[in-house]
Amino acid sequence: MKKRLFVTGGMGYIGSHTLIELAEHTDYELISLDSFQNSVPHVQQRLERVLGRKILNEAVDLCDMPRLEAAFQKYAPIEGIIHFAALKSVPDSVANPVFYYRNNLVSLLNVLECVEKYQVKNFIFSSSCAIYGEVAKLPVFEGSIQNMPQSPYAHTKQMGERIIQDFMVQKNGINCIILRYFNPVGAHVSGLIGEEPLNKPTNLLPLLTRTAAGLQTELLVFGSDYPTRDGSCIRDYVHVSDIAQAHVLALKYAVQNPKMGLEVFNLGSGEGVSVLEAIHTFQEIIGKTLNYRIVERRAGDLAAIYSDSSHAAKHLGWRCQRSLADMLESAWKWQQTLASEQS
Ligand code: NAD
Ligand code: WQD
Repeated sequence: MKKRLFVTGGMGYIGSHTLIELAEHTDYELISLDSFQNSVPHVQQRLERVLGRKILNEAVDLCDMPRLEAAFQKYAPIEGIIHFAALKSVPDSVANPVFYYRNNLVSLLNVLECVEKYQVKNFIFSSSCAIYGEVAKLPVFEGSIQNMPQSPYAHTKQMGERIIQDFMVQKNGINCIILRYFNPVGAHVSGLIGEEPLNKPTNLLPLLTRTAAGLQTELLVFGSDYPTRDGSCIRDYVHVSDIAQAHVLALKYAVQNPKMGLEVFNLGSGEGVSVLEAIHTFQEIIGKTLNYRIVERRAGDLAAIYSDSSHAAKHLGWRCQRSLADMLESAWKWQQTLASEQS
């Protein structure tokens, strides 16, 4: 019998890309646990088209402990869990903090209880560069000082990490890897899988491609007076398929090092790209001028953040394979898939 892996949030943006990498590069039986609260059911069919085989999803809300336990009872033993499931919109979390804390933290607590009860050996947690808050020194590495996060969402990730650290103190025999993603963007090379959230996007990349596709009249650039090389904010964009591959490597690393305990890795390209640079590169790729306008700063934005991901390179053998142009091209291809389906 194949060993089983739970992928919570497997129908979401990063989870779906990771399911592809896991299906192509490991021999696990993959079971996604996703309530579809921020994903569309047809992601499952899209995945099956890319992979040419069935992909299993149990539509379980992880906050519902009896239903979560039923999934564990149905599939145990479980060799590992990759825990993506969480709500991730910064503005939504400001508007609905209690909902965000409940969803992201209760689901994590429930999953950790099951990790212990069902003797799951390997646990991987999706964290975020948002936990660093306002940083004084760049690039940020795993040991950089963490400042006050800028949103309830970011707090849920910082608290999630704290919960995991405490959980791991007495846990011999359980391995846990915390992966801190910087700005995952782009889409699968097939053009069949990409970011398809239920709510209107607020991140730069989907808004860039939506503007180019004529779905919105202009892109607003939030600020041009930051202390950066062109005045716009700098971020560390990283291709979602590179992020997905890191999970395969992290899982292999945990399995090969049974006494590993807790490890934390930044996942970023290490390169800072400004908003205006991203726009200009995108214009070159699509061969047309984008309608954009510089406006006031957006509340809560950091001037610049990018990673030192050498820890992941050294221990996981992970390096970004895909360039900024790959990220933008794939995002554009995905936008065209969405447009062709709507027409
Ligand atoms: P996403 O919203 O596309 O996917 C998350 C999935 O989890 C969705 O399909 C949603 O339906 C599911 N989900 C949420 N709460 C659930 C619950 N209680 N029970 C069952 N399913 C639930 O988000 P994503 O971009 O794929 O992000 C995945 C993880 O990575 C999240 O933990 C997010 O916080 C983290 N992360 C994302 C980014 C980013 O920019 N996308 C950056 C850093 C960290
Ligand atoms: C990128 C840059 C904006 C939209 C978010 C979360 C963070 C993490 C990654 C999950 C910023 C600018 C954006 C627009 C713009 N996610 N921008 N016009 O804020 O760096 O990070 O995703 O963990 O927690 O906060 O990403 O894509 O929203 O913004 O000028 O219409 O683009 O000001 O400088 P951000 P983003």
